[in-house]
Amino acid sequence: MYLQRRPRILRATPAIRAMVAETRLRPSDLIAPLFIDEGEGVVTEIASMPNYYRRSLDGTVREVEELWKLGIRSVLLFIKCKDELKDNTGAEAWNPEGLMQRSIRAIKQAVPEMYVMTDVALDPYSSFGHDGIVENGEIVNDPTVEALVQMSISHAEAGADMVAPSDMMDGRIGAIREGLEHNGYSKTGIMAYSAKYASCFYGPFRDALDSAPGFGDKKTYQMDPANRTEAVKEALMDVEEGADIVMVKPGLPYLDIVRDVKNAVDVPVSVYNISGEYAMIKAAAKMGWINEEKAILETLTSIKRAGGDLIATYFAKEAAKLIS
Ligand code: PBG
Repeated sequence: MYLQRRPRILRATPAIRAMVAETRLRPSDLIAPLFIDEGEGVVTEIASMPNYYRRSLDGTVREVEELWKLGIRSVLLFIKCKDELKDNTGAEAWNPEGLMQRSIRAIKQAVPEMYVMTDVALDPYSSFGHDGIVENGEIVNDPTVEALVQMSISHAEAGADMVAPSDMMDGRIGAIREGLEHNGYSKTGIMAYSAKYASCFYGPFRDALDSAPGFGDKKTYQMDPANRTEAVKEALMDVEEGADIVMVKPGLPYLDIVRDVKNAVDVPVSVYNISGEYAMIKAAAKMGWINEEKAILETLTSIKRAGGDLIATYFAKEAAKLIS
């Protein structure tokens, strides 16, 4: 055969493959989500997330130190709120002595260079398990936004580098930016969960924080998986309102959205490789049906290739070990 072009030449050996690889994963691409619990010496494995844990603050700080040594530069904090502190106002979310605020301070004190991001939404604090305030069975937008602004200011005050609103209320990014500016926190960033879909893949996360909605679902605020243009609209609005980074969530089933958003905005795009995606890989690997390490690296590389500049993933630690 005479062939003018032989693409296999560039795939022939590990050396040439490494030379022409278009996408490279670095530990600093990864954001490690952390589940934090009250108490001391508490380490609880999440039943639907094998080898992932909810830890009290002492263990969390040690984990952050380890992550830093592995090259991870950012953590995203979630707390499990005690049942007796949950209500329909979210007030515990901006308690200066709340678990989140104490966690931010402890982590910043132990590893000051670690970039600390915090989840901003009312669900862990809500007696209804919803991301907003409930009135007559409805999740009301504007009062919720006021609560989210207070919550964000309180995280900034505790020392968070960036707040990450994951609630999908309208207008919250602009309101949070304004609240931060007016309260002297002009250096605090905002990573907006811009295109967050009403996904069944959040199930294991809701087990981890005991935050499943008590009634109904989240479809009046999270997006319909059928929609694509709407994701671009949401991302552009959030950039306009002052988001420093926009996020697409979930990851793997939404890579077309990641690419659309990447092409539309002039800020970094992050992607949340969520709890259900983690659980699926862990479960299949446990059955011996896929190679776990290869599945992790292929997943994360694919998300980056699709346009994800940053990836929040429960595989952060394992992946950092694999690529360093
Ligand atoms: C809460 C929040 C959720 C996740 C991140 N922030 C759950 C939800 O919206 O119900 C999911 C993360 C995951 O599944 O890994 N607003």
